[in-house]
Amino acid sequence: MQFSLNDFLIAVSFALDFMEMDRLGMQSNHGKRTAYLTVCIARRMNLTEEEIYDAAALSILHDNGLSESSLYERLPGEWDHAVTRFEGSRGHCMIGEKNVKDYPFLTEPQDVILYHHERYDGNGYFGLKGDDIPPYFPDYCSG
Ligand SMILES: [Fe+2]
Repeated sequence: MQFSLNDFLIAVSFALDFMEMDRLGMQSNHGKRTAYLTVCIARRMNLTEEEIYDAAALSILHDNGLSESSLYERLPGEWDHAVTRFEGSRGHCMIGEKNVKDYPFLTEPQDVILYHHERYDGNGYFGLKGDDIPPYFPDYCSG
């Protein structure tokens, strides 16, 4: 039996979608949609094929650290709030980063999943602000 990374990523994506459906009663295809947008942006940035592949993989994997304890029931009429609570734990960032530590990326992405909820204004889970947030592709983000 041959292991396919692409098949693995698709399986992870569907597993996360099923978790979302089970817990929130709807399916947003979040990982797949994030990957699509990431690939579009990465192509516009003229990233290499290896960088684009890793960016897509990281997009699909970015919420892999979600667990039963980090999921909450959706309350009626609280979709936006539910989404915030759904991902509202820095723990899923730390667990997710740890889970991909040995993933065979083609490049050397660092802490992409760990900091995927950081916000430019510093309101992310780890409070990093502006340029303190490590860019995924530093070579393309220097000023
Ligand atoms: Fe997340």
